[in-house]
Amino acid sequence: MADGAVFCQFHRFNFWSLVYVAAGVTGQTNKESILNTVATQHQRVLSGMRPTGRLHLGHYHGVLKNWIQLQHEYECFFFVADWHALTTHYEDPSIIEQSTWEMVVDWLAAGISPGSAKLFIQSKVPEHAELHTLLSMITPLSWLERVPTYKDQQEVLKEKDLATYGFLGYPLLQSADILVYKAGLVPVGEDQVAHVELTREVARRFNHLYGREPDFEEKAKQAASKMGKKNARMFFKYRKDYQEKGDTEALGVAQALLDSQQNISIGDKERLFGYLEGSGKIILPEPQALLTPASRMPGLDGQKMSKSYNNTIALRDDTDTVAKKLRTMPTDPARVRRDDPGDPAKCPVWSFHEIYSDDGTREWVQNGCKNASIGCVECKQPIIDAVLSELKPMQERAKEYEEDEATVKAIIDEGNEAAREVARDTLEDVRKAMGIAYL
Ligand code: TRP
Ligand code: SF4
Repeated sequence: MADGAVFCQFHRFNFWSLVYVAAGVTGQTNKESILNTVATQHQRVLSGMRPTGRLHLGHYHGVLKNWIQLQHEYECFFFVADWHALTTHYEDPSIIEQSTWEMVVDWLAAGISPGSAKLFIQSKVPEHAELHTLLSMITPLSWLERVPTYKDQQEVLKEKDLATYGFLGYPLLQSADILVYKAGLVPVGEDQVAHVELTREVARRFNHLYGREPDFEEKAKQAASKMGKKNARMFFKYRKDYQEKGDTEALGVAQALLDSQQNISIGDKERLFGYLEGSGKIILPEPQALLTPASRMPGLDGQKMSKSYNNTIALRDDTDTVAKKLRTMPTDPARVRRDDPGDPAKCPVWSFHEIYSDDGTREWVQNGCKNASIGCVECKQPIIDAVLSELKPMQERAKEYEEDEATVKAIIDEGNEAAREVARDTLEDVRKAMGIAYL
C-alpha cells in the first residue's frame, strides 16, 4: 500500500513536471513546439463553460471579458459543455437546459458577438462524442486516474457519487472538444491546465500511432543533436542496430538513453522515441493553454467568487438584491462602532474598490477608514453604484434576448452548423488515419 502511494506520488511528480513544461510553453513560447502545433495552422481558439447555474461577476471578469477580447483577434469557438455538466449533475439534470439558454443569453449580453465567434452546444455536435470514443481506445487508464481534478473533485463533491466512467473520462471528453477543432489556443483558468496538458499527450500519442510527419527526419536529427555529440552518436548507432538488425536490446538501451535526457523538450523526446521505431505526423495538433489571468474579482466575503461559497453577485441579480448583498457584506471586524478606525487591507470591500474605483475614491476610502471619518455604509455606496452601472446595460441586453428566443436559437443553430462543418472534416482525417474510413 505504502509502496503504491510512493509510486503514485512519483508518477504524479513526473506528470506535473510535464505540466509545468507545457505551461512554460504557454508563457514563453517554445518556438519549435509552436511550429509543430499551432503556427502551421491558423490560431483557432476554443473554450467551453459548464451550464450548471447562473453566471456571476466572477465569470464576467475572469472569463467573459477575456473571450470578448479574443473574439476580435482569433477565430473563436465558444460552447456550452452540457455533457460535461452531466458528469456531475446526472442525478438531477434539470438545471442544465435552463442554464444553457441563460448562459448563452448572458454571453451575448456581455458582448460575445455571434458575428465574430461561433457559439454552440456541445451535444449538438456529436462528432465530439465520436472523437472521444476513438481517443478512449488509445488513452491509458493511468493517464486519466492521474489527472489531479479526478481525485480532488471527488473529494470536494463528496455528496455526489463521482466514481463513474463518465467522470473519469471528463478530461478526455475535453480533449476531444479541443482536438475536434484542431484548436491552437485554449483559454482556461489554472485549474484546467492539466486537462490541456492531457490533451497534448493524447494528441501526441495519436500522431505517433497514426501519423507521418513530413519533415520528421530532419526534426528528429536536430532533436538528437541537442543531446550532445557523444549521446547523439550512440543514439544513431543503437537506432541503426535496431532498425537494420532487429536488435531489441539496442532499442532498450536507446530508450533508456532518451529517458535520462534532462535537456530536451518533451516534444523532442516524443519525436526521438518515434524516430527510433518509426515516425509520426501531426494529424491532431497539440493545443496550448492560454492561461486566463487569475480573476481579481473577489466574492462578497473576500474569498474567490464562486457559487459554492455562496458569495456571488449574479449577472441577473436585480438592483435591490445587488444593493442588499453589498450593504450586508462583511467589513474590517475592528470597526465595531462608527468611530472605531479600520484598515482597508483587512476588508473585502477594499478589493471591490480596487476593481471599481478611481484614485480619488480610493484615497477617500483609505483616509476615511483609517481615521474613522467615514462609515462603512458610506464607503460601500460607490461600489453599489459602480456594480449597478456595470450590470445595467448587460441586463437590458439580456432582457431583449430573453424576449426574442427565436434569435437566440437561430444564433445557436448557426453556431452548431458551423462547428459541425469543422468537426466533420477532422473526423474524416481521424477515421482515415485509423483505418476505419471504408472509402
Ligand atoms: N472543463 C471546463 C471547465 O470546467 C469546461 C470545458 C469543457 C472546456 N470542455 C472544454 C474548457 C474545452 C476549454 C476547452 O471550466
Ligand atoms: Fe471596509 Fe470601507 Fe468600512 Fe474601511 S470603511 S472597513 S474599507 S467598508
